[in-house]
Amino acid sequence: MKGEHRLERVLGPIALTSLGVGAIIGTGIFVLIGVAAHDKAGPAVSLSFALAGFACIFAALCYAEFASMAPVAGSAYTYAYATLGELFAWIIGWDLILEYGVASATVAHGWSHYFQDFISIFGLYLPPLLARPPFDFDPGTGLITSTGALFDLPAVLIALGVTLILVKGIKQSAGANAAMVIVKVAIVLFVIVLGATHINPENWQPFAPFGFSGLSMFGHTIFGEPGLGGAPVGVLAGAAMVFFAYIGFDAVSIHAEEAINPQRDIPIGLITSLIICTVLYIAVATVLTGMVPYDQLNIDAPVSNAFKQVGLGWAQLIVSLGAITGITSVLLVMMLSQPRIFLAMARDGLLPKKFFGSIHTKYRTPWKSTILTGVVVALLGGLLPLRLLAELVNIGTLFAFVVVCSAVLIMRRKEPDAERPFRAPFVPFVPIAGILTCLVLMFSLPAENWVRLLVWLVIGFMIYFFYGRRHSVLRKMHAAGENTDGK
Ligand code: ALA
Repeated sequence: MKGEHRLERVLGPIALTSLGVGAIIGTGIFVLIGVAAHDKAGPAVSLSFALAGFACIFAALCYAEFASMAPVAGSAYTYAYATLGELFAWIIGWDLILEYGVASATVAHGWSHYFQDFISIFGLYLPPLLARPPFDFDPGTGLITSTGALFDLPAVLIALGVTLILVKGIKQSAGANAAMVIVKVAIVLFVIVLGATHINPENWQPFAPFGFSGLSMFGHTIFGEPGLGGAPVGVLAGAAMVFFAYIGFDAVSIHAEEAINPQRDIPIGLITSLIICTVLYIAVATVLTGMVPYDQLNIDAPVSNAFKQVGLGWAQLIVSLGAITGITSVLLVMMLSQPRIFLAMARDGLLPKKFFGSIHTKYRTPWKSTILTGVVVALLGGLLPLRLLAELVNIGTLFAFVVVCSAVLIMRRKEPDAERPFRAPFVPFVPIAGILTCLVLMFSLPAENWVRLLVWLVIGFMIYFFYGRRHSVLRKMHAAGENTDGK
């Protein structure tokens, strides 16, 4: 591959773990925990976090095995390419766009919530027209309603700001990320320690007001109680929502090509970052639901608001600032990852190489696709509601995990002797458990998400058949081979 299309190897194990934590702790724990506890699981949201963490650990072990085998940019996309063929790889790559591109828009929303919470401490408020997206999603009716606003200005501004930083380069970005990760972890510990001194155990009663289940099959509740509008509620349904909080750990594997020693450090980065976050999340969920009755948790900025509710206004300020910093680091990693997935797909000819494969001569970054990502994230973040975006991202990512776990099984069968610097333990148990837990979470999401996922995949198929298939490097190689054979 020409130098022009290569990235620099600069990331070690600590930088990679910090990249993982940077991608993981954000809108999920600072924002979605509120809706999940309020509408889905009550204080048992801590169990929801544990469950979602489990599903991710199975998937992470499978990711780690693949990442150690094929240490190039592109994450699950590259692994699917190597094992399941081009069409599957396209499906997964297209799905990852949902995970990273659309997740970034969701995260930009979370940033906007905390930004507005922060300025409200000083009595400042944005004009309502610029404070939220023009649409909202009513889970009761499943309908999109108008909010009367124009767009979410802070979400747009942060998406564009992060884009500017990313165009300038990964080294600077990794440094800025490490600093933000330290602040973020410190704030989460602050929430846990200070919050723990303001717990009223009565708030944990009843522990699981919506039950422990919440499984539906295309709109029909098959395990647990149907909630508002027939959407599943309970610990499982809560897990399907807070799953968002774990998204991003696979970003570590996307940067395999920039890792100094990918075979060893990518598995370390993936698994360490996931374990750290699972433990922190369970602790935050336990503390938060102990501080404030679950049905009084704020929906927009629940963590900082809980401190206000227990009379610690000064802590609200600190938490709010910390959340803003933390969520920024998530955006940084997510928006850093998306162009690298595009890059991998462009190299295989599935996307136009001139645009998506182009690396800036001075900054050595995929600058054109970084700018495209930034503009799309700003548009989606400015215009669409958080909940709708988050659920769409969750179903897409869970689907990607199912494919990765399946790919590990297939690969072990197809190429049992291939070198695996990291082997997922207890195969086939781990991949099968990964597939099943992810499927359960997919079925715990409101049914309309399946339709959205399907529409997304159909659009992807159309692009593949009209563009990717015709420009595929693999196909051209096959065609050239056949011609030579024929001569
Ligand atoms: N896990 C990331 C977050 O919660 C996407 O913001």
